[in-house]
Amino acid sequence: MSASVTEALAGIAGAKNVITDADAMVPYLKEPRGLFKGKAQAVVRPGSVAEVSALMKWASETGATIVPQGGNTGMVGGQVPVAEGREIILSLQRLDKVRAVDVAGDTMTVEAGVILQKAQEAAEAAGRLFPLSLASEGSCTVGGNLSANAGGTAVIAYGNARELCLGLEVVLPDGRVWNGLRQLRKDNTGYDLKNLFIGSEGTLGIITAAVLKLLPLPAARATAFLAVPDPEAALALLNKAKASAGGTLTTFELMPRIGLDFVVRHADGARDPLSEPSPWYVLMEVSAQAETGLSEAVENFLGEAMEEGLVTDAVLAGSLGQRADLWKLREMLSEVQTHEGGSIKHDVSVPLHAAPEFLRRAIAKVEELVPGCRPVPFGHLGDGNIHFNVSQPVGADKAAYLAGWDAMNAAVHAIVTELKGSISAEHGIGRLKRALLPGVKDPVELDLMRTVKAALDPKGVLNPGAVL
Ligand code: FAD
Ligand code: MLT
Ligand code: ZN
Repeated sequence: MSASVTEALAGIAGAKNVITDADAMVPYLKEPRGLFKGKAQAVVRPGSVAEVSALMKWASETGATIVPQGGNTGMVGGQVPVAEGREIILSLQRLDKVRAVDVAGDTMTVEAGVILQKAQEAAEAAGRLFPLSLASEGSCTVGGNLSANAGGTAVIAYGNARELCLGLEVVLPDGRVWNGLRQLRKDNTGYDLKNLFIGSEGTLGIITAAVLKLLPLPAARATAFLAVPDPEAALALLNKAKASAGGTLTTFELMPRIGLDFVVRHADGARDPLSEPSPWYVLMEVSAQAETGLSEAVENFLGEAMEEGLVTDAVLAGSLGQRADLWKLREMLSEVQTHEGGSIKHDVSVPLHAAPEFLRRAIAKVEELVPGCRPVPFGHLGDGNIHFNVSQPVGADKAAYLAGWDAMNAAVHAIVTELKGSISAEHGIGRLKRALLPGVKDPVELDLMRTVKAALDPKGVLNPGAVL
């Protein structure tokens, strides 16, 4: 990096917040799936909105390109530059203040670099719930959650990150600051710019703070790990649980037997809580505002579901420790797959009624393409969102297996498209799926997206190579 660039960055954020040493940059350049080898000139860690603004103004005037990064847990490589190494990573980690919790208004204003778990804890300390929940919540940031429009394990009740945000503060590519930190639940004064930035994956502006919605803390939660015979039964159970589980259905996650095997094999202390193996499992959680009666209601519900053959075995958490153990079986599922060799990923959604058909057809298709491969389809069945991951055959060569990534994606995505689904349900497009976008988007829609990008970032300062 040239001395004048180092000097300019140090002038903006302070020398100690400019990282250029190759080893020190590694944590910012490696992404969780190891699919991209990142390359950057520097990592800059501004400590205020004014510094973010000065950095963007400088970039837009000098032609530098900026890649925003929060917790670096994104699944599609949007937070990691991979081109010739010209980009500068703008880490939001130091913008980590909870600016205000407004209990009467049920909102919380937090900076972009606040770790999601810290935001949840700040809400809870005020007797409120911030319900966004992901297995990465100990490291991902609110700014990253909004930029990716994260989903997670409570969408069925509370919606995606988008539905939980009332207002934003955004630094534009030319350095101007838009203060849209409104606490309003109704505001029809023109175009909804907030929702343009949410889900834009760092390509339109830098989110520096957000007003988040708070909800009442549930007084009781019932968590059950259920053996189910097949995805059809899981879907029937889902619809029954929405109607009559005795409270609000807040989580409904599907897991195949092989997924549970992987967790038990690789996650410290994890064990199968049921006595007999089952081909499929569901982690279900029901929340209620009354302290008493929920466990009994869920027990009755499960008794009925067993009589109907929708559930073959069940365990209901009897303590907070047991609840944590059941959740761990689900939360470790993403990470443990890395210990089983190459894994080809799909993050798809289909209309709920089509989920069993999708699973049947996609499993048959990948087994035909790569005999011996091990499908591990899991995830947010309650939202029709399946992480259709496929682990390599035991003993296969990892690189040779991963060379079949595009062919397998094409085959699975063809089924998704036929069933009127989406090839990215919650992880976004980033760098991983950019080439696939023209194949699935209406040309008019794609044209509108390019027009928006050109209007907000005419010089292409922000996140080149991501999304479009
Ligand atoms: P990063 O990874 O740093 O960035 C993500 C994108 O947002 C990038 O394009 C980046 O350029 C941009 N960006 C980041 N911060 C800003 C900002 N302040 N302003 C503008 N652009 C910005 N995702 C789900 O949706 N649901 C899940 O259930 C889920 N589970 C996960 C489990 C594990 C174990 C892991 C590793 C990941 C999981 N993810 C999940 C993916 C990821 O955690 C989410 O997408 C998360 O929202 C990313 O937040 P982050 O702070 O790490 O963002
Ligand atoms: C999850 O739901 O666990 C994630 O989105 C992570 C993954 O898909 O691996
Ligand atoms: Zn997920």
